[in-house]
Amino acid sequence: MPPWLLPFFSSLIFSQSITSSFAKFPPWYFPSSMIRPETPSSPDKNELYKTKYFTQILDHFNYNPQSYQTFQQRYLINDTFWGGPKTKAPIFVYTGNEGNIEWFAQNTGFMFDIAPEFKALLVFIEHRYYGKSIPYGGDRKKAYKNSKRLGFLSSTQALADYATLIIDLKNNLTAMDSAVIVFGGSYGGMLAAWFRLKYPHVAIGALSSSSPILQFENITSQYTFNNIITQDFRSESENCYKVIKGLWREIEDTAGWLSSALVYVSMTDYPTPSNFIAPLPAYPIKQAIDDPTLGNDTFAKMYQAANIYYNYTGDVKCFDLDDDSDPHDLGGWQWQACTEMVMPISGNKEESIFPASTYSYTDHVKYCEAAYEIQPRPTWITTEFGGHDITRVLKRFGSNIIFFNGLRDPWSGGGVLNNISKSIIAIVAEKGAHHVDLRFSTDKDPDWLRDVRKREIGIMKDWISEYYHMHSS
Ligand SMILES: *[C@@H]1O[C@H](CO)[C@@H](O)[C@H](O)[C@H]1NC(C)=O
Ligand SMILES: *[C@@H]1O[C@H](CO)[C@@H](O)[C@H](O)[C@H]1NC(C)=O
Ligand SMILES: *[C@@H]1O[C@H](CO)[C@@H](O)[C@H](O)[C@H]1NC(C)=O
Ligand SMILES: *[C@@H]1O[C@H](CO)[C@@H](O)[C@H](O)[C@H]1NC(C)=O
Ligand SMILES: *[C@@H]1O[C@H](CO)[C@@H](O)[C@H](O)[C@H]1NC(C)=O
Ligand SMILES: *[C@@H]1O[C@H](CO)[C@@H](O)[C@H](O)[C@H]1NC(C)=O
Repeated sequence: MPPWLLPFFSSLIFSQSITSSFAKFPPWYFPSSMIRPETPSSPDKNELYKTKYFTQILDHFNYNPQSYQTFQQRYLINDTFWGGPKTKAPIFVYTGNEGNIEWFAQNTGFMFDIAPEFKALLVFIEHRYYGKSIPYGGDRKKAYKNSKRLGFLSSTQALADYATLIIDLKNNLTAMDSAVIVFGGSYGGMLAAWFRLKYPHVAIGALSSSSPILQFENITSQYTFNNIITQDFRSESENCYKVIKGLWREIEDTAGWLSSALVYVSMTDYPTPSNFIAPLPAYPIKQAIDDPTLGNDTFAKMYQAANIYYNYTGDVKCFDLDDDSDPHDLGGWQWQACTEMVMPISGNKEESIFPASTYSYTDHVKYCEAAYEIQPRPTWITTEFGGHDITRVLKRFGSNIIFFNGLRDPWSGGGVLNNISKSIIAIVAEKGAHHVDLRFSTDKDPDWLRDVRKREIGIMKDWISEYYHMHSS
């Protein structure tokens, strides 16, 4: 089963030569295994925010009476640091991704860390069809039942939800003049950047972290993603790269399981211990490779690499390759990948750490026809949001977006890595992983990470003072 159908976080790289492992390890179950074991994030989530619900319109783009149906959209709010409407203190909004919003809020400590300095109100909005924001009476089974019902799951509807909710919330708080900045990582980062482009009257700026908005059509090569993973391992140890490369034929049954570990370890190669997709030590790639006790025992090394990923806490009793639980509720991505999120990333050249393969759009279509009786629209995202020749286009038209990318993150290949204008800024960290800037800061953060955050804060301060300056004159 094809890799491009996996949820964003799990988008994988399987190749034809290891497809036989799919029978045993269907990739759409993949994110769940990635996320085990379930351990609480720190700090205690109950102390971070209050939960609210908003009655949201099901279909923003149609006046057919059926479209007037509503659903309950969840959002999380923290007003502890907010300066309030009188001082027009800013509002920071996280544009939710493909999953439970609590998970993203707990992993976006940056917003909590900087809220006091900005006297900001924090709001995290859940994406429709995920978490508890499920149409059709909150019943997931009903909402996911068929294409007719899933049809309302799209990025454009999600952006319209965010605009509607933000405007309503500002009215309720009589905070119409407060500046809004949107934040997001990964797919949420794509949404943040697109929100700024589509709703400039609602948000004055966007911090778009590790958002591969250029991983559509042929803008970015299908080989880039796996090249970066290959490079991550190779730069740490040429020998390790060779060992893994030689393994695939021998371990057909567990190939999907092992390659999942490699991708996620690359994405989350953070400088401090983390618990985003799974509990991991600092610099997990190095840790996986550096165990000298294993000598040249290929299988021991492979097991060790996977063990770091699947069992860092040491409390996993046995590995369940067929686990199909989905604790973070990422299931809807399959639908999104079959409609508009067509991101070719699965190509592997000869030198790749994975077996050589090419992405097949034809297979992608076949899968989607079988699963949903629909055809993807691979050019819709660039039609709606642009992407081709982005520098020339956005230089004249856009403003106030920060694109952060860490070059160790395979998704950085489809990110914006060059400055587009004075206010559309690319911040690139050579040693950075997937939206590392958005994590809670710690005493052990390296200088480059502190510097990234300092620059982001400085840029956002400029946006806000410019906004208030213009507002008062
Ligand atoms: C907001 O977050 C801070 C932690 O940064 C926490 O101490 C506070 O209790 C939270 N406020 C609410 C209303 O949840
Ligand atoms: C604004 O207030 C109305 C009336 O109390 C409420 O129904 C609505 O949910 C509120 N909006 C938000 C975003 O909470
Ligand atoms: C990408 O380019 C290849 C080769 O030019 C072409 O066959 C394919 O249709 C293109 N795909 C898209 C989505 O534009
Ligand atoms: C591992 O293999 C390398 C090269 O094949 C060799 O130089 C080295 O001595 C071996 N190490 C052990 C512990 O066997
Ligand atoms: C997980 O790690 C612990 C401690 O290192 C070990 O005892 C256990 O066997 C590991 N689980 C698996 C499935 O290998
Ligand atoms: C973009 O410009 C800023 C200064 O405005 C600079 O700090 C940053 O390094 C530049 N980014 C790149 C990728 O060159």
